[in-house]
Amino acid sequence: MNPRPIRLHVISASVRPTSAARPLARWAAAQADEQGRFEVTPVDLAEIALPFLDEPEYASTGIYAHPHTRAWSALVDSADAFLFVLPMYNGGFTAPFKNAVDFLYREWQGKPAGLLSYSDGGSGGAPAGRMLRPVLQAVGMVPTGASVAVPGIAGLVATGAFRAPEGVTDELAAVLDELAALARTPVCA
Ligand SMILES: Cc1cc2nc3c(=O)[nH]c(=O)nc-3n(C[C@H](O)[C@H](O)[C@H](O)COP(=O)(O)O)c2cc1C
Repeated sequence: MNPRPIRLHVISASVRPTSAARPLARWAAAQADEQGRFEVTPVDLAEIALPFLDEPEYASTGIYAHPHTRAWSALVDSADAFLFVLPMYNGGFTAPFKNAVDFLYREWQGKPAGLLSYSDGGSGGAPAGRMLRPVLQAVGMVPTGASVAVPGIAGLVATGAFRAPEGVTDELAAVLDELAALARTPVCA
């Protein structure tokens, strides 16, 4: 019997109206979808439109006063694994993404997370990814060892679709392999 597909949420961590995350996330979601083992849900933080954290109780209580938090909680809860599509802003991750992480706690726990970072410059946003890892671990996510960093993003999305440079498709495949393996491994308390 085939195992059920892994519910993979591909989350764009930028909310800019012209964000390069959109074409990149569409490409990544299609790559994952093609493999047949993932049920892919694209998540655009601009559409989720969370305010700055406005819950009176800590996320760890799971007590949510606001409908936007309950909706975000249900969406994150429904994932088995995440792929974060992450730009680098001034050497770090984006504020809207950190805010979206801080809104929840239990919903992230024990779930594998892969990073697909990007930037205009030559680093491909790898420093933002490195900065994010301890944040993901603080809420109990399990970051994959492998990650993808895409430099020169402006030139790669100029047509409105992402043109993958050589090697990037294979790098993403390695992250997806790890996500699948981790998602199928029961977490021991
Ligand atoms: C606020 C801001 C800060 C940025 N800082 C950097 C940076 O430190 N290094 C870099 O290579 N590119 C930097 N860039 C360029 C981004 O990597 C590039 O514009 C990318 O497309 C931004 O992601 P977005 O389109 O999803 O907003 C910055 C862009 C913005 C908007």
